[in-house]
Amino acid sequence: MDVPVLEDLHLHRGARVLCRVDFNVPVRDGVIEDDLRIRAALPTIQYLRDHGAVVVLASHFGRPKGAPDPKYSLAPVAAHLADLLGIPVPLTDRVVGPSVEGVVASAAPGDVVMLENLRFDAGEEADDPGFAANLTTGVDAYVNDAFGASHRSHASIVGPPRVVPSAAGRLLGREVEVLGRLLGDPARPFVAILGGSKVSDKLGVIDALLDRCDSVLVGGAMAFTFFLAQGFSVGDSLVEPDMVDACRRLLATGRVQIPTDVVIARDIAADAETRVVAADAMPDGWKGLDVGPATAAAYAEVVAEAATVLWNGPMGVFEVAPFAAGTIRVAEAVAACAGFTVVGGGDSAAAVAQFGLADRVDHVSTGGGASLELIEQGDLPGIAALRNAPAARR
Ligand code: 3PG
Ligand code: MG
Repeated sequence: MDVPVLEDLHLHRGARVLCRVDFNVPVRDGVIEDDLRIRAALPTIQYLRDHGAVVVLASHFGRPKGAPDPKYSLAPVAAHLADLLGIPVPLTDRVVGPSVEGVVASAAPGDVVMLENLRFDAGEEADDPGFAANLTTGVDAYVNDAFGASHRSHASIVGPPRVVPSAAGRLLGREVEVLGRLLGDPARPFVAILGGSKVSDKLGVIDALLDRCDSVLVGGAMAFTFFLAQGFSVGDSLVEPDMVDACRRLLATGRVQIPTDVVIARDIAADAETRVVAADAMPDGWKGLDVGPATAAAYAEVVAEAATVLWNGPMGVFEVAPFAAGTIRVAEAVAACAGFTVVGGGDSAAAVAQFGLADRVDHVSTGGGASLELIEQGDLPGIAALRNAPAARR
């Protein structure tokens, strides 16, 4: 990956290390529903503590509009991290400024402090140099372990490496290594399963994958734009008419498979009446909400034969029981596959966690958008920034 790693920082006891993490986790009623992103950062935090650093963690959480908003406080996250580490993790009341300096100054080697939500300051998303300068005041080194946010050119991602010695954390390193393996020399057959609602979100990644994969299996609502390209009617399903030409081009490669049957309903409801119909027989007034059983079985068979699998995006509205079967079947097939299996972040990572299958996948990525962009572009702004950072003195 060609970027500095933690050892390259040559940390001395008491060094102040700003560590960007992606603790943008799902929280409902103050309870963290999936702490994968927090647990995944523990090895880096532990390394920094073991080397006597004062660890200053910085993360965004949700999408507050550049001003403090208690709804988006990192308080539940700091509390959860304190439980995981078994030490107090004080949360600063602001992102930068004198009060933050005070908390950090009173921390001892091995202590961990968390800054309040970076996006409470408009300077974060604007990559404001003044904000970045405030973030790095008194900081000896910077670590990026926020893989899930490294596709964002935000101040906390690209700013510090311009001015202080910087390194990739363990999680960022592992993510780049695994995804790099898919891009480099994957064992064949290499099968990608892509779902989710929009073709437009995935077009770049499908193109990048078609250069490397043996087949791309399509599910989720984005399949219906492919149906339009085939001349099928799609009832009230979600479609992107301006992507039909692109879908036609992708189908012409002969390596993109689309569903042959679908689960339809009039509404997305747990008690909705459902039917299974052939792909070319969707009636008016109904929406496609999952791949059908024949499609799920066919996709599972392709996955069973694969030596490398990348899965990103659910096959249907799996959060609602009548539309979960396709995603469950694909998740089980990925879990059972003997090949090297990678699940992209976001909804598909949530799905394997919900089905209790995460331990049977070789790598569950902590980045949704970031993993797609890394596959598409071969690099991310946050990684490029580390490459150009000033070197640490021994
Ligand atoms: C994510 O969850 O996708 C990352 O944390 C990035 O968040 P964002 O999409 O709000 O920039
Ligand atoms: Mg996102």
